[in-house]
Amino acid sequence: MDKDRELSKLKNTMLKFNKNFPGKNLVFSDGNKDAKVMIVGEAPGRTEDKLQKPFVGRAGKLLDGLLESINLNRSKVYITNVVNYRPDKNRKPTTEEINEFKKLLFKHIEIISPKCILLLGATAALAVLNHIGPLSVVRGKWKNIKIINSYFDILTTFHPAFLLRQPAQKKSTLEDLLEFKRKLSS
Ligand code: URA
Repeated sequence: MDKDRELSKLKNTMLKFNKNFPGKNLVFSDGNKDAKVMIVGEAPGRTEDKLQKPFVGRAGKLLDGLLESINLNRSKVYITNVVNYRPDKNRKPTTEEINEFKKLLFKHIEIISPKCILLLGATAALAVLNHIGPLSVVRGKWKNIKIINSYFDILTTFHPAFLLRQPAQKKSTLEDLLEFKRKLSS
């Protein structure tokens, strides 16, 4: 099956989860489905729900700037979230929601089949790496993880929404991104 058909099948599956998020829109993805880079965030916020695109609010603007620092933009990356609907009242996704959407995320990764994956923040690290605890333990370290039938190179860094609150951590995020770029161009 080709990528477009598989993506549209996945999208249709996700649309069925709408009943658990009344009044919210599906925020499926943005960017280039043939990109070598796949970026995974947590869940859409208010602006993302409204525009039905991931990372288009304040955190998204910061993400765009960070990507630019390593010569990437939305035509060179594919972006999605662990949970594809905005949780009510801006709360974090629950463990049940993460576990439910994790299977769909893994399918999404298999379809896109990127060279490198960048995880943004603790929810993405929990869903993909099963990491619980401080993000500082995993950030900036490459992991090679089997997802469905293939192995993927995965790097974790801070979530841009966290960086808006803790700008001092931008420096280490930029270091992570340089490491990401190094592997990507190797
Ligand atoms: N934060 C996320 O994790 N994802 C978005 O799409 C926007 C903000």
